[in-house]
Amino acid sequence: MSKIISTIIAFFLSANTYTVVYMQESGEETEQTTIITEDIVQKIPKEKISPIKAVSGNPAETTTKSSWWSYPSNIKQVTRSGDDLLVLVNKEYQLPSTYAPTDLVSICNNVTNVRCVNNTNFLIRNIVISDLQEMVNAATNDGIDLSIRSAYRSYTTQQSTYNYWLSMNGGNVGATDQVSARPGHSQHQLGTAIDFSSGEINDGLSGTFASTKASKWLADNAWKYGFVIGYPAGYESVTGYMYESWHYRYIGKTNAQDMVNSGMILELYLRSLN
Ligand code: DAL
Ligand code: ZN
Repeated sequence: MSKIISTIIAFFLSANTYTVVYMQESGEETEQTTIITEDIVQKIPKEKISPIKAVSGNPAETTTKSSWWSYPSNIKQVTRSGDDLLVLVNKEYQLPSTYAPTDLVSICNNVTNVRCVNNTNFLIRNIVISDLQEMVNAATNDGIDLSIRSAYRSYTTQQSTYNYWLSMNGGNVGATDQVSARPGHSQHQLGTAIDFSSGEINDGLSGTFASTKASKWLADNAWKYGFVIGYPAGYESVTGYMYESWHYRYIGKTNAQDMVNSGMILELYLRSLN
């Protein structure tokens, strides 16, 4: 028994242990201790990562065991086009601090059957509203309860959000960069990303959302309504972020169908078009 205990202690001492604090704007917070070891990084299933032929030569595809959550030294400005639904925003491509969508509207003034947690006036681009309503109605018909914990975040809100989580992580930039985007690098600034929760967990903390029926329902059905998960499990080395079961980005029904047909996750799909 003592051998087992000392082995466990030795494992923990040899690992890089980060306390990752999951981000939410509402003031609620949780912590999940995540042990990052070379072993775990190596175990990210390579076969689950879609072909990256379209991003050959892109610095962001370079994955090393210790720096997959790091920002590259050469940060580029995003390329905007059309309705902006397919803009690539990641650790390499940044939105200008001045960028804000011009068609932001209140979610809970425009969509029924979904709760905005703490009655927050969450904003989203108007282009999202009709498909969001359709998705929420379908979820409700299937007995699924959905709530919203975050949507549009301005550059300055993201700056405060990042700094808050940096402070909650004791100033550990590496740990913070795995869970929170630096200002200009968040999909939330696009006004098309939503963080969901559910009454199943009392509209609670994001880290527990993965265990809900709502999370399973979204994973199976959200794409039909144009919403796709931003940071899926098993692709941390590609997205640069820990799994976020709650974070969905709207890219429109046709694009979502195209993405699903391609077999690529959002990050690689957007890179292939960029
Ligand atoms: N949590 C995601 C990565 C964001 O901050 O946009
Ligand atoms: Zn989010």
